[in-house]
Amino acid sequence: MKQTLTLFICLISMSMFAQSVSTYDLTCESRVNPIGLDVAIPRFTWKIAATGRNVMQTAYAIRVATSPEFSKKTIVWESGKTNSDESVLQAYGGPALQSGQKYYWQVKVWNNQAQESGWSTTAFWQMALLNPSAELSAQWISSGIKADTAYGVVPQFRKQFTANKKIKSAVAYITAKGLYEAQINRQRVGNAYLTPGWTSYNNRLLYQTYDVTDLLKQGKNAIGVSLANGWFRGEIGWEKKTAFYGKETALLCQINITYADGKTETIISDGSWKVSTGPMLASEIYDGEIYDARQEKEGWATASYDDKNWLPVVVKDFSKKILFSSNHELITKHETFRPVKVLTTPKGEKVLDFGQNLVGWVQMKVSGKAGDKIVLSHAEVLDKKGGLYFDNLRNAQAQDTYILKGQGTETFEPHFTFHGFRYVRVEGIQEALNPENFTAIALYSDMKPTGSFECSDPMVNQLQKNIQWGQKGNFLDVPTDCPQRDERLGWTGDAEVFSRTAAFNFNVNNFFSKWLKDVAADQDANGSIPFVIPNILKGTFFGNPIGAAGWSDAGIIIPWNMYLVYGDKRVVEEQYPSMKAYHSYVRKAAKNDLWNAGFQFGDWLSYRVDDSKGLIGQKSAVTDNYLVAQCFYAYNTELMIKAARLLGKTEEVKDYEALLERIRKAFQQEFMTANGRLISETQTAYILALQFDMLPEELRPQALERLVSNIKSYSYHLTTGFLGTPFLTPVLTRFGRTDVAYRLLLQDTYPSWLYPIKMGATTVWERWDSMKPDSTFQDPSMTSFNHYAYGAIGDWMYRDVAGLDVDEEGAGYKKIIIRPHLSSELSSAKASLNTNYGLVSSGWKVAPKEINFMLEIPANTSATVYLPTRNIPDIEEGGRPISSDFKILGIEGEYTKLQVGSGKYEFKVRK
Ligand code: BGC
Repeated sequence: MKQTLTLFICLISMSMFAQSVSTYDLTCESRVNPIGLDVAIPRFTWKIAATGRNVMQTAYAIRVATSPEFSKKTIVWESGKTNSDESVLQAYGGPALQSGQKYYWQVKVWNNQAQESGWSTTAFWQMALLNPSAELSAQWISSGIKADTAYGVVPQFRKQFTANKKIKSAVAYITAKGLYEAQINRQRVGNAYLTPGWTSYNNRLLYQTYDVTDLLKQGKNAIGVSLANGWFRGEIGWEKKTAFYGKETALLCQINITYADGKTETIISDGSWKVSTGPMLASEIYDGEIYDARQEKEGWATASYDDKNWLPVVVKDFSKKILFSSNHELITKHETFRPVKVLTTPKGEKVLDFGQNLVGWVQMKVSGKAGDKIVLSHAEVLDKKGGLYFDNLRNAQAQDTYILKGQGTETFEPHFTFHGFRYVRVEGIQEALNPENFTAIALYSDMKPTGSFECSDPMVNQLQKNIQWGQKGNFLDVPTDCPQRDERLGWTGDAEVFSRTAAFNFNVNNFFSKWLKDVAADQDANGSIPFVIPNILKGTFFGNPIGAAGWSDAGIIIPWNMYLVYGDKRVVEEQYPSMKAYHSYVRKAAKNDLWNAGFQFGDWLSYRVDDSKGLIGQKSAVTDNYLVAQCFYAYNTELMIKAARLLGKTEEVKDYEALLERIRKAFQQEFMTANGRLISETQTAYILALQFDMLPEELRPQALERLVSNIKSYSYHLTTGFLGTPFLTPVLTRFGRTDVAYRLLLQDTYPSWLYPIKMGATTVWERWDSMKPDSTFQDPSMTSFNHYAYGAIGDWMYRDVAGLDVDEEGAGYKKIIIRPHLSSELSSAKASLNTNYGLVSSGWKVAPKEINFMLEIPANTSATVYLPTRNIPDIEEGGRPISSDFKILGIEGEYTKLQVGSGKYEFKVRK
């Protein structure tokens, strides 16, 4: 009897559990408990955990308070029960938020199954300074040290101070013209590197906010800050230019202490700080660091340190008007690697192979005599003979030097540099290298991983891995082209083509929102968007106020992509003036609706060497630059229509719509024969014309045929460059030739995606043949082994191979499309994406008699699912025919289309 009762209670509680709804993953401005937000109206996102299917939110309530108890006195806003199915980026609606204040928030939801969640766990955010120039009484300070120059020493600043009473909380606000690293009482402040990051410094310099309560103590304290060149004053660009933003580095630092008795005190950078040189004789992004441990000032960031020989700092009156809080994820440490091999090159050099081309640095443990010198030189690849290949680094030294102090085991890692490398030459250690003493540390922006893709082909899985490593290595506060040579710039084209793929692999919402602000800040008065952001090419040919298709277009394409994948409407609202100004620039540059004048990159780095195999002996891989530009003009106009529509700008929608029609007509007149042949018989020309609907409907099938026969004429190889490649496989899929897309994906001879993998690549290369089949290299002046642009295929792998896509009608994956495209060459594929609503996954597996489709759709979303059969009775879900349980939307092409709510599903389609 007792047993039956227990079972009964158990069952009841299980069924109660099965009925429950709760929330999880609360974020404010897409970050978990962020500290330091200068967003006046922050937005909240929550996910809904619910068992069972078809769960939709019907209402929510949010409450915000200044204490985690949510007592009446501390509540600042209660939304009240709000009937809505929105759970992503919902705006705060209370009274103006106070600068520096910490706020706690909770959410409660109701769903369509008559369930109520109760208040969620408590999340918080802390406001940054809403008026920093007034609220920071800190003064800019510089070292005044002569040797503190672009390639010179790294000064260390310190200040000793007393906190006489019990401390309740303390917040530090720090930034620099340069790069800084701070310690309080010997402990590092925060876990970010290369702060304050890189922005359009003359317009926007970001400061960081740190909760330093635990680092301070009652009594005497000290803060120490190292200040290096970084992007501000260090070498930047390929012309060995330094001091782009200024000749002097400077530091700004303020600690606001609140005591237990409610009194406050402020510690600020000012003339009372002291400065000295330290162990870093040089630390430079391209060249690396020289660290002489004998010069360490032991205990310099502690209160007891005697700084009587230190110098006074120089106070500067640099502006504080350009200060903003960093609301995005900063650069932090990630994966670590031990060498997988220790090699000796033909020259007899000792080399560590970390097995992965990564971006960051090496930490080493060494021992020896004072004055012994160890030099680490970084390289991405080995040459044909097994020697290190440095030529592609161009002027970047990529070298860290450590000089020992001779005191037992010493640990070194650099501070203000980063290298793109897989191999490291170690000089200065006589005995055999012990791999245990060397750790490669990957550094990149702390964007959260969101996506995974996997299939039955190991080479394709390696490609996915390489794409992700390309992203990790090049998302260092700014989306860069490459991480190793004397470049590493925020090339707009590269970022634009890769942005959708990037948003599958990681959450890049804040990363791009931050960069887009710099796009707007560096935009020219004539509306043109520079080729690199931040624009350090100003004053050079590439820095002219001109726009180029596919590059400058990033200013329109990326905001739209952020809206699509994150449902972030604000990014479009905020960028709209910049988008519109750039679009007007192109409109002016175009004559008679043709964008056919001025500089264009065109289909950059398309296949062209030994281009004799093409159709009828033509130079068939080289596409007319203006044909490309015209397609992108249509693309950016189409996005302006969508953006204007989203923002309710009806008149502008009409204007852009009329323009788009004219752009397409102009294209047809200029670049197409009456029968639909394009003036460039290239893959890219047909891809772009098809992708952007440039051709009259009736001429599209023959354009597709031309594209396919072109691909065949190259024995199923692609010949596309930066702008054609991202759309190659999507166009083939859209027009029903996924079979050809798969042949291209699985091709492993040059040029193809898998060729580099056959050559041992662990990242995506800049060129299809950065390393040639005979293991020699392409032109060292432009041969990166870590360039993400061609990784844009990742988007197609997620969206079309696994079939996981967003429905434009429900941005942010509120509405999902699941439409896998199978191939006889793969037996399975699977992708997942952690969206703002929760995990979406789509996988398929081919069995002898059936195909299995495994789906997961998060609560508060719905999906349109396409299953590849026209015969509905061939479909089962969970062992039952689908007809009774699912809303069947009809047959479309070779697919049956279903409407599906949240939940996990296992469909079987009989073959
Ligand atoms: C960069 C590219 C960039 C290109 C444009 C190169 O040096 O590495 O990826 O888009 O220049 O010219």
